[in-house]
Amino acid sequence: MIVVPSSSSLKLAGSVAKLTSSQLSDVERKRFPDGEMYIRILSDLSGQDVTVLGNTRFDSEILEMLLLLNAAREGGASKVTAVIPYFGYARQHMKYREGEPVSSKAITKALDTTCDRIICVEIHDTETLGFSAHPFLNLSLIEDMSDHFRKKAIDYVISPDDGGYERAHSMASIMGSESAYINKKRIDAGTVDMKLPDLDFRGKSILLVDDIISTGGTIIKAVKLLREAGAARISVSAVHGVFARESDRIISSSVDDLVVSDTIDGPYSMVSAAGTIARSLKG
Ligand code: R5P
Repeated sequence: MIVVPSSSSLKLAGSVAKLTSSQLSDVERKRFPDGEMYIRILSDLSGQDVTVLGNTRFDSEILEMLLLLNAAREGGASKVTAVIPYFGYARQHMKYREGEPVSSKAITKALDTTCDRIICVEIHDTETLGFSAHPFLNLSLIEDMSDHFRKKAIDYVISPDDGGYERAHSMASIMGSESAYINKKRIDAGTVDMKLPDLDFRGKSILLVDDIISTGGTIIKAVKLLREAGAARISVSAVHGVFARESDRIISSSVDDLVVSDTIDGPYSMVSAAGTIARSLKG
């Protein structure tokens, strides 16, 4: 197999190539004088099983993925897999108001035209998986995340909303802790109303878990409530650390531990998705 990295995921692609004993391809990247993107995969892909690995968060990341996938196809690859560690636009998986697009469908359909299968990591809404005509796999990092916290004597694993309770419950089961969720009502994109479950948090060690931290509004509010309720130690973990508006700075200063995966690489990426991705590619 040949692994082709998008510029969003150079380190993760390198780890995946190593774990799957694959060749990691070099890619030439530049801009045309008019600003358009130029990419060239510097490996012979003819008859090869090719994996293109990168995110779809920013406009430029989406474009780069589409160009790389097309280059793999045009280069004669026998099979083309798109691995999307952080599938951006998955939160617009339905039309909320007339005139809006179903953005996750638009991205999936665009990927679909140039690849034979898609593999992503903990996509925000699994409805998106149904938008592809090809196999579309959604990998879980619950085991990897739980392993990281297994020895930290966590009393409660808490989800900041009922939608994420299954994750909190699964992690708590692996770690031998209790689990619960906070009643959350979203007022608008940046404001949420939250009510803690009726439990005694005084002196307890809490792990707050979510799939994604974006503006941080959800987690910051949950941390404040748990501190007011007397929690002794608060760790926060999420699969995807988007950290819009520099929310990592605010969160890290108010908690004991902040841990995300390397689906989006950054200073708090303590858990790697490489092993899970590599196993799915080999399997
Ligand atoms: C909500 O359904 C998600 O699981 C996250 O809680 C949410 O997307 C986080 O967004 P923010 O960090 O902007 O509150």
